[in-house]
This record gives sequence, C-alpha cells and structure tokens, in this order.
Amino acid sequence: MRVFLGVTGASGAPYAARLLRALAEAGCEIGLAASASGIEVLATELYGDPTLARQEVLRRFVEPAGDAVTVYDVNDYGSPYASGSAKVDAYVVCPCSMSTVGTLAAGAMQNLIHRAASVALKERRTLVLVPRETPLSSIHLDGLSRLQQAGAVILFAAPGFYHGPQTIDDLVDFVVARCLDQLGLDNTLVKRWGR
Ligand SMILES: Cc1cc2nc3c(=O)[nH]c(=O)nc-3n(C[C@H](O)[C@H](O)[C@H](O)COP(=O)(O)O)c2cc1C
Repeated sequence: MRVFLGVTGASGAPYAARLLRALAEAGCEIGLAASASGIEVLATELYGDPTLARQEVLRRFVEPAGDAVTVYDVNDYGSPYASGSAKVDAYVVCPCSMSTVGTLAAGAMQNLIHRAASVALKERRTLVLVPRETPLSSIHLDGLSRLQQAGAVILFAAPGFYHGPQTIDDLVDFVVARCLDQLGLDNTLVKRWGR
C-alpha cells in the first residue's frame, strides 16, 4: 500500500511518529512531507529542542521506519504525490493544523501537503486529517465540515479511556489504531471493544 503522510504544525508529534512506524511495519511505501511548523513541532515534542536543524529532525523522525520512507521537501511539486496520475492508496495529515484545515477548505494549495490532500479529494481517495485544536471557532468548524463533506475523514487526536490506558503510549496507540482502521490496515495496537 502506498501512503502519503503530511506532518503539519499542530501539537501531536507522538501520533505522527507512531503512525509512521506502524505504516512501515504494515509494509507500506510512505511518502513524507513536513511543513516548517511541522518540523518545529516534531523538534519540540519529540526531541525537546525547537531549534534542532530540519535535516536532523527528519533523520531522527524517519529512522525507525527505515527504507519504507521517502522524504520530500514541502515545496517539491515534482513529487509523485502532487499529481492524481500517481497511484496512491491513501493520504494522512497528522497532526493537522487549523492553518492547513483552512487552506484545504478554501481549495488553496500552498505546499505539497495541501496539494496531496487536495489531490486525494478530487480523485476521491482516502484522506484522513488528524487535528488536535481545542476549543474550535466557527471558522474551524466550517472548514472541517466542508472537508468532511468533500470526502475527508476528520479523525481528532482524541484518545478514549475505555481501554484502560496505563501510559502515554497507550493513548497515542488509541488514535493511531483508529487512523490505521480508516486506511484499512489490520492492527492490534489497542484491544477492540466488546466481549
Ligand atoms: C509547538 C507548536 C504547537 C502548535 N500547536 C498547534 C495546534 O495544536 N493546532 C494548530 O492549529 N496550530 C498549532 N500551532 C501553530 C501552527 O504551527 C501555525 O499556525 C502554522 O502556521 C501552521 O502551518 P502548517 O499548517 O503549514 O504547518 C503550533 C505551533 C507550534 C510551534
């Protein structure tokens, strides 16, 4: 399965890191692009140093996923993910900032992440957006509603507590498991509900 992962500047870097690893473990071919703010959030939340150089952030972020990942510059429109002609099974923006939500909802494309998400919508392919923002303004809600109506899955980074989480990793796994479900990827990250 070929998947695009866009990382934007919302809080939630641990979700992106776990998702990347899970996609690699599931045998996916992954195209990755991170916005400048996305890099800053990864550096802050995963490595405790917001000033860490972009290349070093990406090196550390991608390392656990190994050869499964190809990293693209966020302005690289030569990437296959910039075109509907490329065969891509699913697109995920995790975490997804409200800035990116607003841009996508307006049909604008200012970088490869916006372009890839927009391609997913126009080609009617799976697009999962993982926002975290709270509370939400009516502008955010309108944008999210618009994107959902256009075909996106809005999957908030809102972990449940009914599976008895003991660690932060358990909470992260909950959100990532829901995301993998949307991509149709079998997973056992979290015990499913029901006797
Ligand atoms: C550490 C950090 C955390 C942030 N958290 C959020 C957030 O949770 N939600 C959000 O919409 N923006 C958040 N922002 C602001 C966005 O990064 C900012 O609006 C940026 O322009 C988004 O651009 P992008 O969508 O191209 O990544 C955060 C910024 C930083 C530096």
